[in-house]
Amino acid sequence: MKIVYHGHSFLELRCKKDVILIDPFIEGNTLCDITVSSFKKIDYILLTHGHADHVWDTVELAKKHDATVVANPEICGWLNNKWVKKIHEMNIGGWFSFSFGYVYMTQAFHSSGLPDGSYGGQPAWFIIKGADITLYHAGDTSVFNDMYHLGNKFHIDLAFLPIGDNFTMGIDDAVEAAVLLNADRYVPIHYNTFPVIKQDPQKFADKLEESWFPTTILTPWKSID
Ligand code: NI
Ligand code: MN
Repeated sequence: MKIVYHGHSFLELRCKKDVILIDPFIEGNTLCDITVSSFKKIDYILLTHGHADHVWDTVELAKKHDATVVANPEICGWLNNKWVKKIHEMNIGGWFSFSFGYVYMTQAFHSSGLPDGSYGGQPAWFIIKGADITLYHAGDTSVFNDMYHLGNKFHIDLAFLPIGDNFTMGIDDAVEAAVLLNADRYVPIHYNTFPVIKQDPQKFADKLEESWFPTTILTPWKSID
């Protein structure tokens, strides 16, 4: 699996057969390195919650590529009203086996209004279990103690944690979250897109190094194999 970072919370997972996007945010994403027309193929789009900086380009991308959108029932209903036809509803605590691997949806501590002000349901995280890797995408969240339980339940190889502060946890709380989750490696996300979430990711990496956790800082277009 190749994982490409496109700034903010936007990840692209290129598996053997499938291309999966998580929280695609292109228009308005000041760090984004691509345009809506850059993709040749998208099979799945996973959405953690309804805020515009996570769902904004989904309607256009899903329709253009006939991609299946995986999200909670409220976000799926909003997409359905916009004529996105391939949707897969999930909710907190559920597993489902997709062609690229297993997806587990669990709760984030955040909010989830949709861009038109309608209710977006419970915000989520995803744990994705592929053939050779277990990934964790935290969406937008604060730190909370159940992370310890989830870290024990799943052996997480690679975890993407927000560090931007203001809307989500900042660096100090993300370090706390990292210790609770006990994953093998961390990547900081959801920072530097807007002035209010400006952070130095190296500070996060340095603090984690003190606790013996390795970190990879991905600038947009950089990838991990
Ligand atoms: Ni949000
Ligand atoms: Mn956000």
